[in-house]
Amino acid sequence: MTDPAKILLDGQSIDLPVIIGTENEKGIDVTRLQATTGYLTLDPGYANTGACRSAITFIDGEKGILRYRGYDIAELCEKSTFMEVSYLLIHGALPSQEQFSRFKDRVLLHSLIHEDMKSFFNSYPGHAHPMAILSSMVCSLSVYHPELLKPNPNPKETSQTITRLLSKVRVLAAFAYKRSVGEAFVYTRPELDYVSNFLHMMFTTPMQDYEANETIRKALDVLFILHADHEQNCSTSTVRMVGSSKANLFASISAGVCALWGPLHGGANQSVIEMLEDIERDGCNYKKYIEKAKDKSDPFKLMGFGHRVYKSYDPRAVILKTYCDQILDQLGINDPILDIAKGLEEIALTDPYFIERKLYPNVDFYSGILYRAMGFPTNMFTVLFALGRLPGWIAHWKEMIEDPNTRIARPRQIYVGAPLRDYTPMNHRTDP
Ligand code: CMC
Repeated sequence: MTDPAKILLDGQSIDLPVIIGTENEKGIDVTRLQATTGYLTLDPGYANTGACRSAITFIDGEKGILRYRGYDIAELCEKSTFMEVSYLLIHGALPSQEQFSRFKDRVLLHSLIHEDMKSFFNSYPGHAHPMAILSSMVCSLSVYHPELLKPNPNPKETSQTITRLLSKVRVLAAFAYKRSVGEAFVYTRPELDYVSNFLHMMFTTPMQDYEANETIRKALDVLFILHADHEQNCSTSTVRMVGSSKANLFASISAGVCALWGPLHGGANQSVIEMLEDIERDGCNYKKYIEKAKDKSDPFKLMGFGHRVYKSYDPRAVILKTYCDQILDQLGINDPILDIAKGLEEIALTDPYFIERKLYPNVDFYSGILYRAMGFPTNMFTVLFALGRLPGWIAHWKEMIEDPNTRIARPRQIYVGAPLRDYTPMNHRTDP
């Protein structure tokens, strides 16, 4: 039994329970603080707030550790597959052979979308960003599954929806791309695995069947594993927050897709490449951009650097860097923006500004480079992140709705606006 934390408020000592996690992470439970004392805790950006207890992912940002359900990320990338990791995250344990084949068969079975939905895609302008299409389409899926709009769907219905969603989002992502380039939609092929099927739907054209190169297939599988979960980040917290109102799974995931889109989160992989292209257009002078990133009067940030949680290195970036070198070598890619990326990385790792603030390349720095080398267009990068993150979002949504202690998410605030004042009729008001 751990001693409670004590705080002194208005001359009175208050005991607050201390919570200890599996890996000895310590927290102070302030659930009753406002009700008993009238005081709130204020924590902009929730940098120091635990919003739930979760058994899905463990991160130690100081030591660069990332584990899904207790399994180290490097071991999963080496020995597992994205499909198996999805099962692990959602169901809590690695599947038996039989459980896995049933899971895979069900994912394959649901890999068609309602034919009516194709007309939704065609209503978007050709230049529409695929993230806009993806978020709307995920929410639109709910139209075809009214049983899930019930506030308390039964576990069997929930399990079916989860498999449907896993399978269909991949189709929606590929169709969003096909719409954006004005090409015909391509359907899944039953003999292909999850990742090969996605590549087939993306890159097969009426003129040519796409045969996935094994190096690319494996690298994309690893990219998806590395993105599969990251505990309470902006998009996952959004999924949990929206779901806490008992909004259905599709609506909650669609909100997560929108949260991921921002350039400080999943949208950073697109921003990294755009930044590198800007530097190339500006004569490849990357040192100038390091100086801009350090200049406090300049809003420019080095995209793909820094992380709220990782303060020694991002273990996902370490794995991806190895894949980056391998893929570029094996595919014989010679891309000038990669030289810029290497230059930026080298300087940032030795510059005191970045060292003192513990700013290292993050997962998005290398994933952007890898996606480009694999032939994905830049505006699809964040969609790929969303596809990878999907099992994590689902696992958190499921954990949240199954937890009897879940309450609707409802943060508080400290009001700093005008005090009570009298209403003035319009003809008595003057311009400020
Ligand atoms: N370039 C230059 N300076 C930076 C950067 C950067 N990319 N990131 C942080 N800093 C500075 C920041 O200005 C601050 O300096 P000071 O202490 O002098 O005021 C210090 O480092 C601490 O930064 P912060 O803004 O308090 O960090 P945060 O935890 O609020 O933000 C972050 C984390 C990831 C949003 C931020 O580092 C950033 O904007 N990075 C670029 C965008 C990016 O790559 N995002 C992808 C994150 S990884 C994928 C994911 O999980 O979403």
